Amino acid sequence: MALLIRNGEIVTGTDRYFADILVEGETISRIAKGLAAPEGAEVIDATGKLVFPGFIDPHVHIHLPFMGTFAKDDYKTASTAALVGGTTTLIEMCCPSRMDDAMEQYNIWKAKAAGMSACDYTFHMAVTRYDATTEAQLREIVADGTASFKIFLSYKNFFGVDDGEMYQTLKLARELGVIVTAHCENAELVSRLQAELIAAGKTGPEWHEPSRPETVEAEGTTRFATFLETTGATGYVVHLSCAPALKAALDAKARGVKISVESVLPHFLLDKTYAAREGVEGLKYVMSPPLRDKRNQATLWDALEAGEIDTVGTDHCPFDLEQKLLGKDAFTLIPNGIPGLEDRVNLMYTYGVSRGSLSLNRFVDALSTKAAKLFGLYPRKGEIAVGSDADLVIYDPAYRGAISAKTQHVNCDYSGFEGVEIDGRPSVVTVRGQVQVRDGVFVGEYGRGEFLRRKPVFDNGVTDAG
Ligand code: URP
Ligand code: ZN
Ligand code: ZN
Repeated sequence: MALLIRNGEIVTGTDRYFADILVEGETISRIAKGLAAPEGAEVIDATGKLVFPGFIDPHVHIHLPFMGTFAKDDYKTASTAALVGGTTTLIEMCCPSRMDDAMEQYNIWKAKAAGMSACDYTFHMAVTRYDATTEAQLREIVADGTASFKIFLSYKNFFGVDDGEMYQTLKLARELGVIVTAHCENAELVSRLQAELIAAGKTGPEWHEPSRPETVEAEGTTRFATFLETTGATGYVVHLSCAPALKAALDAKARGVKISVESVLPHFLLDKTYAAREGVEGLKYVMSPPLRDKRNQATLWDALEAGEIDTVGTDHCPFDLEQKLLGKDAFTLIPNGIPGLEDRVNLMYTYGVSRGSLSLNRFVDALSTKAAKLFGLYPRKGEIAVGSDADLVIYDPAYRGAISAKTQHVNCDYSGFEGVEIDGRPSVVTVRGQVQVRDGVFVGEYGRGEFLRRKPVFDNGVTDAG
């Protein structure tokens, strides 16, 4: 059935204008004022609403064996949460441990999503060990359409790679033209600082941040950039949290290193004092890199508006309270992660656009278009144009509400943003032309979501995604 969206204000990464959008099949077929509805079409009146391209979350954990437990979502809960929150495509981190066989795990990750997801999805493939077998498998995985890698410079002996493995991964990525996303912290410094703090009886969650200070993240970012510079590979720093790490990335970029920056929702709105809250409260706010000193937030917001921070993801990673309590006697045992998939669009809109100084175009660019460009999804995703997938978010800026674990779709018994007000929410969300959400309610179909096969964007470093 065709879908006609009338009278909305279309906002993309670059433009803002009033027009109607006709969707036929899975794609946008016309954009113009005063379009007639084909017979049998559903007509949605978007008067007073903003019409955005479907949002893309470039950093999500759904199936995640980590720190002796598993993140709580499955594709049903995660894709429902994503769509209700306006995210129509998510990129999940496929993270085998160092001990695992990469291909076996890649197939497990894919199987968990297939036939289950209500939104479109794709993966970043984590390289957690580098040897001849893994290299051959990575070539196959890229040929299968998973055209981006992930490396961890922290989480020693589990996800973490050493410098030699980072070098080999970047060389392979350069050869294949795929981008490498990286968690940038110095593993050695983290483990030394953790051991010293625990030995001194500093065991509470408030000591998580001092065990991974800003210098540790700045070092990881600098080293990643140096390796990119040396190999000519293209890189992307995930969940950058603080001013010194940002400076390291921007300095590298200024000298021609192909590096982009992602920051994630918690770092814009939460700070390290949350982890110092009494009892179980503090445990909720442990993630890595840690929540920082509040002064970093202004830096992140300014850099986001300036385009120095390219994208905003969530690093969505739900562990419930029982799991968080695994670390009640030692912060090193608290499963790292904060959920946010459902809240990213509404919170960044509220505190960036509505109550801050983030422009609407940059908001759309950072939460959708730029990720599509960097990860080989553009212009199919991240754009409102004839021929693009009809992933659309009809957004109601007049809605007023607050976030609560009681109403969220994420499989977690708390929200890190409990009680936080929102100015606006998606009123209709479509995935390739099919309405999946109406007025905050999931009305869609599980299994509608497709695995998005992507081609390498960075042909041996010659093509620039812009
Ligand atoms: O604390 C975090 N970020 N948990 C998820 C794993 C990761 O580092 O991305
Ligand atoms: Zn990480
Ligand atoms: Zn992550």
